[in-house]
Amino acid sequence: MAFLNPLTLWRRFLALPNESRAKTFGVALLVALVSAGAVTVASVALRPIQQENADRQRQERLAAILAAVPDLARIVGEAGADALETRLVDLATGTFVDVEAPTDFDARAAAADPLRSVALPSGADIAGIRRRASEAVVHLLTRDDRLVLLVLPVYGSGYQSTISAYLALEGDLVTVAALSVYDQGETPGLGARIEEAAWQALWPGTRIADETGAIRIAVVRDGATGPYEIDGITGATRTSAGISNMVRFWLGDWGYGPLLENLRSVLGVATPAEAPIAAADDVTPMPPVATPPEVAPHTPALALLAERHAAYGLACSSCHAAEIPAPGTTIAANLSTTICLDCHGTFAAVAARTAAVFPNPHASHLGDLACSSCHRAHQAPVDYCSQCHSFGFRVP
Ligand code: HEC
Ligand code: HEC
Ligand code: HEC
Ligand code: HEC
Repeated sequence: MAFLNPLTLWRRFLALPNESRAKTFGVALLVALVSAGAVTVASVALRPIQQENADRQRQERLAAILAAVPDLARIVGEAGADALETRLVDLATGTFVDVEAPTDFDARAAAADPLRSVALPSGADIAGIRRRASEAVVHLLTRDDRLVLLVLPVYGSGYQSTISAYLALEGDLVTVAALSVYDQGETPGLGARIEEAAWQALWPGTRIADETGAIRIAVVRDGATGPYEIDGITGATRTSAGISNMVRFWLGDWGYGPLLENLRSVLGVATPAEAPIAAADDVTPMPPVATPPEVAPHTPALALLAERHAAYGLACSSCHAAEIPAPGTTIAANLSTTICLDCHGTFAAVAARTAAVFPNPHASHLGDLACSSCHRAHQAPVDYCSQCHSFGFRVP
């Protein structure tokens, strides 16, 4: 049976003359098998590593944000690490949900699952996320039963990517302790500067709400004034507006609003009305940016845009050329713009079609907006401009 021994076979194989056909084929086959094996191993093995990297990056960011908060190291040192608690929150009621391992909660997966998320009405969806998981994980640092720091994960649409960040509030639940962006794909050198420490350093000390409890915090263009404003990044209006809307969304009724309200009463934190506020002279009246988002009502008589395109004889595949997405898939804003401009030409061509409309929704001081800022293929459209103006647009 010696000929079946692999070693013997291998030795016999090596002993073949180099110009032998069997040896040439044999070597080629071996190389192919080894590299195919390597590719399979790499792709299977890399997936968990990528996930692990993402998890680690999130953890590092959380550690960094905690480290950036003045005095926190001392507070944690004195109070012990146990004082940092991670809790799962039912966002609608603002109450904690008891679970074994709240850190295992995957917000993105939950947001994509119709059973564990809610669709946001277009008027409420200022962060451009369409659905929001029913629950979220928050981190609380308490000392002597008093809240010292609340860390909230937030995310929303920027100009060309989804921006993910941690927003930390001080124990008064009104003052921002820090904002830390840990994931974004905005324009390098422009919007991507939201990850720079210098810009994030503008956040601590900003107040999120006024004495009536109304959310006032905003990222503004051309110079922040007053306690609620943060300077936007020059040349990155849409990224700045995206961050502003993201933070306003998550602090509002559809985000952590109910939790903040509960925490204020349960933990004995002063409500914004009782919290000391800046002297009246420091408070500059807000420009139109501060008006709460208000969206032109969708006229039910207007069928959804995808149905209207179907009426023009266009099949699903005329928009979804590569593949029809699975229900609930989120399509990036810039991708939908690419889809639309495939047929509708350029931003300029679209603007020309509504040149007679004043103001022209397709040519404004906001530049080239993603079509999905207003038009939605399968949902009620949104009047993006109505966050700040009321032109009464009827978006088809
Ligand atoms: C006018 C172009 C257009 C047409 C036609 C169109 N879609 Fe879409 N579709 C989009 C865009 C843009 C999105 C991204 C979300 C949005 O804008 O509503 C999308 C998202 C989706 C999604 C994922 C999001 C969700 O709502 O679940 C599904 C599924 C989908 N389309 C299926 C279809 C099917 C099936 C048809 C044909 C009946 C169709 N689409 C026709 C443009 C189109
Ligand atoms: C396959 C080509 C095609 C694609 C892709 C496409 N459209 Fe259209 N669209 C048309 C045609 C054709 C019409 C009807 C003629 C016209 O108004 O130009 C139309 C009409 C419209 C109208 C007017 C609707 C009405 O009933 O008055 C709007 C608004 C519109 N499209 C927006 C979009 C947006 C936003 C997207 C991307 C989500 C998109 N279109 C993608 C071909 C397309
Ligand atoms: C700021 C909101 C907004 C954005 C962003 C936007 N639109 Fe519109 N669009 C409108 C409004 C409002 C109308 C209706 C104007 C009117 O009153 O006739 C309209 C109308 C249209 C029409 C129909 C024009 C006609 O002849 O009646 C087309 C086509 C269209 N949009 C395509 C697009 C495409 C493609 C994009 C992305 C490149 C886009 N829009 C981005 C708000 C917007
Ligand atoms: C984030 C807030 C914001 C959004 C969103 C916004 N604007 Fe503005 N807009 C402003 C501010 C601030 C001014 C300056 C107001 C002033 O100088 O009094 C302004 C001024 C204007 C003006 C000139 C002043 C006027 O009211 O006549 C027009 C026109 C205008 N915007 C159109 C638009 C259109 C169209 C859109 C949607 C595509 C839009 N804006 C979206 C904040 C916004």
